[in-house]
Parts: sequence; structure tokens; C-alpha cells
Amino acid sequence: MSHEFYMQRCFQLAAFGKGLVAPNPMVGAVLVHNEDIIAEGFHHKFGGPHAEVVALQNINDAALLKNSILYVNLEPCSHFGKTPPCADLIIEKQIGQVVIANLDPFPQVNGSGIEKLKAAGIKVISGILEKEGRFLNRRFFHFHEKKMPWVILKWAETNDGFIASLPENKNERVTLISNQESRTLVHQWRSEESAIMVGMNTLLTDNPYLNSRLVNGQNPVRIVLGNGNELPPDLNIFEDKNTSVLIYNFSITEIKGNAEWVKLEKNGQVLNQLLHDLYKRGLNSLIVEGGTITLSSFINAGLWNEARVFKAPHSLGSGIAAPKLPNAKVLTNQAIGSDRLCCIINTENFN
Ligand SMILES: NC(=O)c1ccc[n+]([C@@H]2O[C@H](COP(=O)([O-])OP(=O)(O)OC[C@H]3O[C@@H](n4cnc5c(N)ncnc54)[C@H](OP(=O)(O)O)[C@@H]3O)[C@@H](O)[C@H]2O)c1
Repeated sequence: MSHEFYMQRCFQLAAFGKGLVAPNPMVGAVLVHNEDIIAEGFHHKFGGPHAEVVALQNINDAALLKNSILYVNLEPCSHFGKTPPCADLIIEKQIGQVVIANLDPFPQVNGSGIEKLKAAGIKVISGILEKEGRFLNRRFFHFHEKKMPWVILKWAETNDGFIASLPENKNERVTLISNQESRTLVHQWRSEESAIMVGMNTLLTDNPYLNSRLVNGQNPVRIVLGNGNELPPDLNIFEDKNTSVLIYNFSITEIKGNAEWVKLEKNGQVLNQLLHDLYKRGLNSLIVEGGTITLSSFINAGLWNEARVFKAPHSLGSGIAAPKLPNAKVLTNQAIGSDRLCCIINTENFN
């Protein structure tokens, strides 16, 4: 079997940590002896043991390690963080060879884990499926390299390109554009990201909960942008006291229970300020769910990484027009029941 085969298995295992390990990366590890997988592991949750440690715990015959290869999608750490260095453990267990997809972007690690292994006489190969590994951990790499969260734009539009009825059509307001299957999928996505955001108009017209209630998963931190110093206290976003709410505004700094008002400067850099603040809070991904003014401001500033757009089969005739994306690479275009889902990546911000 090729190195790529076992690395693919590391990616599969790593993905089990989706939504549970942030801001850490998703990591999987596989121990191979004479082409047989003898143990596997992955990083289960933030602060928990690293993938290499779990794989080594799962081994039945430690005598095989000397002639085994450890496959792991991220360079083993060489520093004391929440857990002791994995590089030291690999050396102690006398594993013969280590194969890696990506170097760790952390300045304390970058290349030093590999150097430590090599210095101990372990053969190291790196760069196997490097691009695929970067894509799997795109939130993690972007967060550390650009010092801001990975931004996913999401909206649903009608067949004729509207995201909602006009505000003046109060009595005939269409509140749901996409179907139930699509909405459940969106809740799954919410549970996989660190934060979720809407603009002030969406908050006040739709009164959303911004949680993951349709699936069994974590709730993201809820974020609103706009002049929100006097928000009704009975809004649904304030209901769940266990999840934080951040209200980015231009007039006050204040903390009330689980809600925090964060003052931004009203200049051309509003979204940069906001994303930088999320970086400082350790939130490595953000899903932006509308409306058009908010989504368009991310698009115009070039501060987005992915877009996930649902197109419903029905029309509205008039309403709030959907945002317009510049040319970008379409990753997938598929049916979700009666809706179509188009997933797009901003190649300007990802390589
Ligand atoms: N179909 C869908 O997927 C979907 C999803 C979400 C919402 N919607 C619909 O969208 C409609 C609302 O959309 P909308 O376009 O009118 O408004 P919106 O984007 O929800 O909110 C716009 C407001 O947010 C604040 N804001 C957003 N970006 C900003 C920036 N870069 N800098 C400063 N302030 C910023 C401003 O608040 P201030 O004016 O307070 O400063 C702005 O007026 C609702 O009817 C809702 O139902 C549809």
C-alpha cells in the first residue's frame, strides 16, 4: 500500500474530531506494520490526548513498534502544551519511521518536531497529501497564518434570486426559503463552527436562536453586528444562558450575563476589527448567515473563505436581492431534496 493510502485513513479518523477539537486541528494517526494497520487513533476533543498518543494506547504488541511506521496528518508536537510532547513519546517507543502530511504552523513547533525525531535516528517523510491535509484543517491553518477565523457565508435564495420578502410586506412575509432537509444540514454546519453571525436587521426581523437545535452538537458563539445598544432583552438569542452572545456595535462596551457588547471604530475596517477580535478570543471559524447587507460587506471586503448557497425551486417575484459573489471555484453542486446546494471556495484566500 502507498503512503497516500494510509494518510487518507488518517484524514478519515481526524474528521471524527470535527466541531469538537477547535481551535486545535483535527488529527488522525495510524500505526502500520508490514502493511497491516495495527492501531489507530484521533484527537477526540480540545484538551484531550493527541492522535499519536491514542494510537499508541491502542497497540496490542509494543514489540512491533520498532519496525512500524506511524502515519499522522500533522507534525508531532515538540513542546509542552496541554499535553506532553508527542515527539518525545514517539522516540521513547522507538518507532522506526514517521510519515506526515503537514508541518505545524505554530512557531514553537514548525519543523522542530521533525528535527527532534530525525535527531533521534527516526526516518521522517513529510508532505504526503499536503494539499488535502491543508484543506481538511483549513480553519486551523488560516487562523494561525492570517490571524483571523475562517469565514463561511451561507444563505438561501429563491429561484428568482431573493433571500426574503421586502420589510414592508409584513403580512405576506416569507420566512423560510429552503426546505427542512437543508435547514437540518445548516444546523449540522453550525455545530461544526466556533461562531455564527447575523446582521442587525436579521436579528430584529427574524428573532433567530442561532443554535444547533435540530442536531446533536455544540452551539456556536452567537454574534450580531450593528447598532444594538438597546436590544429587547427577550430576544431568542439571549434565551440560552450557556452560550455567549457578542454584540459588535459602535457605541458601548458592556457585559450583561452571557452577553457582551464590544465597541468597534466606525471606519473602513469594521470587519477586520471584528475578525481580529474573534481571533483574540480563540474562535477559529465563523459562519455568517445573512442578511444581504452583512454578507455583501464580507464579499466586498474580500474577507470570506467559503460560501454555501441554497437555491429553492420556488419564486418570490420581489424582495431583498441575494448577495452577488465574484468569480470563485465551485467545489460541489448537489441536490438537497428539492433545493440545490452550491459550495464555493474563495481561491484568493486559500491555496
Ligand atoms: N434567506 C436567507 O438565507 C436569509 C438569511 C438571513 C436573513 N435573511 C433575511 O434578510 C433580511 C435582512 O437582511 P438585510 O440585508 O436587510 O440586513 P442584515 O444584513 O441582516 O443587517 C444589516 C445591518 O447589520 C449591520 N451591519 C451589517 N454589516 C455591517 C458592516 N459591515 N458594518 C456596519 N454595520 C453592519 C447594520 O446595522 P445597523 O443599521 O444597526 O448599523 C446593517 O444595517 C431579513 O428579512 C431576513 O429575513 C434571509
